Amino acid sequence: MHAALLDQAHRAIEKKLPERGNDYRLGYHLSPPAGWMNDPNGLVFFRGEYHLFYQHHPYSAQWGPMHWGHAKSSDLVHWEHLPIALAPSEAYDRDGCFSGSAVVLDDTLYLIYTGHLWLGEVRDDDKIRQVQCLASSTDGINFTKHGVVLQTPPDPSVMHWRDPKVWNRDGQWWMALGARQGDDPQLLLYRSRDLHDWEYLGCALQGQRVPDGYMWECPDIFELDGRDFFLYSPQGLKPAGYDNWNLFQNSYRTGQLDDSGCFHVRGDLHELDHGHDFYAAQTLLAPDGRRLLWAWMDMWESPMPTQADHWCGALSLPRELSRDGERLRMRPARELAALRQSQTLLQSCEVKSGSCVLDVQGALLEFELELDLTGSSAERFGLALRCSEDGKERTLLYFDAMARRLVLDRQSSGAGVSGVRSVPIAAEQTRIALRIFLDRSSIEVFVDDGAYTLSSRIYPRPDSLLASAFAVNGTGCFSDISVWRLADLNI
Ligand code: FRU
Repeated sequence: MHAALLDQAHRAIEKKLPERGNDYRLGYHLSPPAGWMNDPNGLVFFRGEYHLFYQHHPYSAQWGPMHWGHAKSSDLVHWEHLPIALAPSEAYDRDGCFSGSAVVLDDTLYLIYTGHLWLGEVRDDDKIRQVQCLASSTDGINFTKHGVVLQTPPDPSVMHWRDPKVWNRDGQWWMALGARQGDDPQLLLYRSRDLHDWEYLGCALQGQRVPDGYMWECPDIFELDGRDFFLYSPQGLKPAGYDNWNLFQNSYRTGQLDDSGCFHVRGDLHELDHGHDFYAAQTLLAPDGRRLLWAWMDMWESPMPTQADHWCGALSLPRELSRDGERLRMRPARELAALRQSQTLLQSCEVKSGSCVLDVQGALLEFELELDLTGSSAERFGLALRCSEDGKERTLLYFDAMARRLVLDRQSSGAGVSGVRSVPIAAEQTRIALRIFLDRSSIEVFVDDGAYTLSSRIYPRPDSLLASAFAVNGTGCFSDISVWRLADLNI
């Protein structure tokens, strides 16, 4: 049954490929060959290669019964699509193989995921059943389902409990699950020796509707530089000041996970990325000890113009995490330097109330520069990217001196999208260091060596390729700007 459903899913993808529209197709980010993608799942290093799975609907570019798409890479840059790993096929996962994780035990690759069922006539979030399931593969391609390993939540009234994250701690397997009890979120923990039998450890952290939201999706717990981090995707946070304007957030807290399974929070809640499109992030411990992270580079209810092109959804670039006090820094994985092709070096410049077209064009570019705040007097200054000849399309990234914030403005960034996102710039700061990755329909900004990031989808026309430096009412000072053309890998 499972094999036949996988074949059917592959045929659906094959059929759509010739019809796929490629104007917004990303050149070096992972997206599904056709159909829909959301969360990254099961990030794992297996027999010398990185494997990455993702929530996938192969039959249309809309969310639907979830499959697990699959790709692998030996260098984090070049990805090979593999056959779909999981299709909903059994009574316990009939309506979807939801998010989860992957681990390697005895040279076998195991997937732990949530089986999802709709219980009502229509899709109704209040009438569902979820169970936690196990599957395995000895070749890293074909997976055998082993059925349900956790049938009911500790509190039987809980319907939403999902997204198992499994990791090894002191020789035992630990599992974190996000749950919703009434309108309050919970982090549940289990422990196992063999991945089949799980013992409930308890509720590691209990939240309250206000201020914690009603559900913590996609939990991840990991140790970094002597601290434990709880990374999750809270649903239901209220916008506050400049924060929480996406439908849902991606957040983290630091603290200590004790041996009994209690997570003692030590720090504040932080948003992981400050752009419009970043959700359901998951991490992987690379063989060299680096903690790598990917997220879904979209957001529920965002405009998704590529649905008309028969594909939808992308993953962020892989990022390296490091700890800065109670905060996380995210830098682009160092392997991404392999994307760089020809380089253009633009001399430092001062722009006086106006704009200056940069001698560089393209859709797939990396920029590295600094904005010099001490020499500048402009109210706003920064870069206009992916600009059309007529100036109607442009994506702005600028320092707003009045608000002392770095702003990503996609008001004129093409099909469907709008709005601004921003991050604070400290009063004592004299410069802002920027690394910017542009792909055909995305922008990822790494601010001050990953202290902040902003990731958003943009949908400019394919011929909106110009870039300029601008300043409003005063002078803006720019350092030398390095620009690299990035490889178009068609993944
Ligand atoms: C997060 C999420 C998960 C769930 C999956 C379903 O985006 O809602 O909680 O497992 O997507 O596709």
